[in-house]
Amino acid sequence: MEKMVILGGAKLTGTVEISGAKNSAVAILVAAMMVNGKCHIENVPHVSDIDVLIDIINNMGGSATFTADGVVEMDCSGLNSCEATYETVEKIRASSYLMGALLGRFGQARVALPGGCDFGIRPIDQHLKGFKALGAEWNIEHGMVELSADKLTGNNIYLDVISVGATINIMLASVFAEGLTVIDSAAKEPHIVDVANFLNCMGADIKGAGTDVIKIRGVKELHGGSFSVIPDQIEAGTFMIAAAATGGDVLVSSIIPEHMEFLSAKLEEMGVGIEKYDEAIRVFVENEKLKSTNVKTQPHPGFATDLQPQMLTLLSVASGTSVVTENVWDNRFKYVGELNRMGANVSVDGKVATVEGCPYLTGAPVSATDLRAGAALVIAGLMAHGVTEVYNLKYIDRGYENFEQKLRKLGAQITRRSAEGQDSSFKERDAR
Ligand code: EPU
Repeated sequence: MEKMVILGGAKLTGTVEISGAKNSAVAILVAAMMVNGKCHIENVPHVSDIDVLIDIINNMGGSATFTADGVVEMDCSGLNSCEATYETVEKIRASSYLMGALLGRFGQARVALPGGCDFGIRPIDQHLKGFKALGAEWNIEHGMVELSADKLTGNNIYLDVISVGATINIMLASVFAEGLTVIDSAAKEPHIVDVANFLNCMGADIKGAGTDVIKIRGVKELHGGSFSVIPDQIEAGTFMIAAAATGGDVLVSSIIPEHMEFLSAKLEEMGVGIEKYDEAIRVFVENEKLKSTNVKTQPHPGFATDLQPQMLTLLSVASGTSVVTENVWDNRFKYVGELNRMGANVSVDGKVATVEGCPYLTGAPVSATDLRAGAALVIAGLMAHGVTEVYNLKYIDRGYENFEQKLRKLGAQITRRSAEGQDSSFKERDAR
């Protein structure tokens, strides 16, 4: 087991290059399982969720390998299984996309109910409703979702809840369905558009991704091709918040600034300087004390729930009271107890957290409770007085490529150590 040891207080300065979007790449790799031919996929972040997925694909008779930095070559012409067991899928939420891809390709799928970060009940009723509307039967037994269809036929599907996963899964299942499928009240996240662009590049006929209504006209086959994954909106946001939290001056580059509007606006409200360029945003702080603000998470283009823990962490040292409302997940404040152990003053009542700004945080040993909470605790460590040790790094490794290396390049005093080591003092060599 490893831990991150952080000596707080360094202002982050310089340029950080953002990697490809993890949540887009996991869906695109699964979508590529429907392609009869070779796919060359660039800008894939090398994070553990992708490694798990590559293993799943190879175990099912497909072929997927990292051949160069950020490049995955895939060929799933030989895919010969429509079953994914609990052992293979329990680590990643994105394994739920196997349902749509395998159902679409083989007319049947047997997939264990997916795992991933735990922030409350994670239902799949909207995915199943979509599959049923396309003509599939489903059954859940012994933790496995079994899907089968003699034939998939396009239909109109209205989602009762705006769901990223259900939107992508229905898109996948309907790529080969006969006729027209219409997904109404679809999710609009940038990675929905990216997955649709990937599928279209390989021969699908999908229109409207990025709006409330997506129309998919069934095609006979997908062919191979090349594609590059979009930049990671959440990694970009994490670095923007880290820059603000440390009073730094950072150019967050290789990004799509329009994807960051909700965050740029909030940071500006707090008194953070924001300068937008074509493919970068400069985040800088001139005022010593940032102002409080209120945040409500919403599906895109609202404030992304995946940046809620990082933002709340920043608000914990702003002047005044902030209210953070989590509208997407039932239970995404589990990390707050850890933050309060560092001196934050946050109280949670259901989906609402009230943050009383405190003068500063103090370093402490803390444990990541999920992927984004892990990133938030690292940000807390960067701004705290003294040394913070962050445990449970497996969560951070799921979704951030070279996280501490990128932070170190910006001047952070952060290092990774074996968690068994008792010595948490920060040595000069650690910063290198
Ligand atoms: N929901 C239902 N029924 C469904 C599906 C979802 O009620 O059938 C509800 C959920 O309970 C939740 C809301 O709808 O309250 C949104 O869930 P959604 O399906 O959109 O989430 P997801 O597809 O499981 C993806 C991201 C998450 C991110 C959410 C929301 C991936 C692999 N995961 O999850 O990312 O929080 O969308 O934006 O894309 C992360 O990266 O840290 C992460 C958790």
